[in-house]
Amino acid sequence: MIFTSSKCTKGIKGNPIIPGDKSISHRAIIIPSISNGITEVSNILKSDDVLNTLNAFKNMGVKIEEYNDKIVIHGYGLNSLKEPKEDIYLGNSGTSARLLIGLLSSQKFNTIITGDDSLSKRPMKRISDPLEKMDAKIESKMGHLPIKIFGKDLKNTNIDILIPSAQIKSGIILASLNTEGVTEIIEHSVTRDHTEIMLEAFGSDISIEKKESKKIIKIKGKKELISQNIKVPSDLSSSAFFIVAALINNESHITLNNININPTRNGLLIALKKMGAKIKYKNLRKLNNEEVCDIEVFSSNLKGCELDEDIAKLMIDEYPILSIASCFASSPSVFKGLSELRVKESDRLKLIVNNLIKCGVRCKTEGDNLFIYPSEKYEIKNNNIQTEFDHRIAMAFCVMGTKVGPLKISDSESINTSFPSFIEEFIKVGGMITWIEY
Ligand code: S3P
Repeated sequence: MIFTSSKCTKGIKGNPIIPGDKSISHRAIIIPSISNGITEVSNILKSDDVLNTLNAFKNMGVKIEEYNDKIVIHGYGLNSLKEPKEDIYLGNSGTSARLLIGLLSSQKFNTIITGDDSLSKRPMKRISDPLEKMDAKIESKMGHLPIKIFGKDLKNTNIDILIPSAQIKSGIILASLNTEGVTEIIEHSVTRDHTEIMLEAFGSDISIEKKESKKIIKIKGKKELISQNIKVPSDLSSSAFFIVAALINNESHITLNNININPTRNGLLIALKKMGAKIKYKNLRKLNNEEVCDIEVFSSNLKGCELDEDIAKLMIDEYPILSIASCFASSPSVFKGLSELRVKESDRLKLIVNNLIKCGVRCKTEGDNLFIYPSEKYEIKNNNIQTEFDHRIAMAFCVMGTKVGPLKISDSESINTSFPSFIEEFIKVGGMITWIEY
C-alpha cells in the first residue's frame, strides 16, 4: 500500500476512536487460554499481531468465539493446551514470540515458532538464555526464528532480567506459572507491567516487591488461574500519533477516550508535558486495575527537551512520533539511551534519522543518543519515506506529512499490525491522505 500524507491547513479536530491496547490484548488471549473458566474480552485490538496470537491458541485447541464487540475464551487450565498440528506462525509480532517461547517451554509438547522476515531477524536469545537457566530446551540457528521448543518440566531458579524488556520478563513469568516451586525474577529497571496486573486478577500466586530501582517478582508455580472478564482500554501508543498531530498543527483540539495511562507506559505524556504540551487528563479511573482516562489535546508551542535513558523504558515505542514532535519545537532535543530502538520491527533509530534528513531536518545519532535540531522551515530533499514495513515509522511520518507533506509512505500495510483503522480515523480528524496504490 502506498499513500501520500499532505499538509493540513485546518487543524486536527475531533474525537478519533483509538483501538484496544496491543500489549494488553495479547495478554488477554494468553492468560485466559491457560485459566479455568470462561473469559469475555471486550474492546480487544483486532490487528494482525493480535490475530496471530489468537490463531496460535486456536491451533493449540483453545475454543475462542469471535463476535463483533468481544471474544469469548474457554480455558481449561495450565496444562490444557494441545500440541499444534502445524508450526505456529506469528507474523511480525515480537510480543507474541517472546511471550509464547516462555509459555511453551514449560508445556508437555514440542512446538516450532516461525515469523515474517522482520521477526526472523529479531533477537530471541534474550528470551531463550534466561529460560535455559530454568533448564528449558530451545533450538534455533543463531538465536533467530524459526525456533523449536521442547516443552518439559522446568526448574525454579532466580533470574536477573538485565535487558529492560517487558517481553522477556513476561516470557519468564509465563514459563514459571507451570513450574514447581518459586521462581524469582529480578527486573533491574521498570518495564510495562500488564502481565503482573492481569495475573494478580486471575488469582496467580505472584508477589511483587520494589527495592530501589529493582523489582522482585516471585511466582509460585502450578497454581491454577481463575478466569475473569477483561475490558481492554485503548492504546496510548496508538493515541500518540493523534496527540502529536494535534500539538504541532495550529487550530487543533482533540479528545481521546478511555486511554490506558499505566505509569510504566506513560513516558510520552511526561516528555510532552516537559516540552510545554497542552494536554488535559479527565475522568481518571481504573479498568481491570489498569489506569485509564480521557485525554484532551490542544495545539501547543513546544520547546525541545533532554530525556535520559531511564524514561526510555517507559516510552520505547513512542520515539518515532516524539522525534516528529521535536522537529516543531523552538529548541533542540536530545534523547539518550536508545539502543533498544535498533532491535524493534526495524532499526528505528536509523529510519528516524534517514527519513528526517529526507524531510530537511538537521539531526544525528551519537552512539545510542539522538539529537534533533529544529528549524522554522524545512526544505524537503526526497519525499519517499522508507518504512521497511514498520508500522510506527509509517504512522509517525504520516503525521510529519501534516506539516511538510506531501510525503509518500510506502509499504504501509504494516499499519495493520497495530492500528488497522488508523488512516480512516486520521482522515476523520483532518488528515490529508491520497491513495496511490491499495
Ligand atoms: C511490549 C514490550 C515492548 C514494546 C512492544 C510491546 C509488550 O518491547 O516495544 O511493542 O507488550 O510487552 P520490549 O519489552 O522488548 O521493550
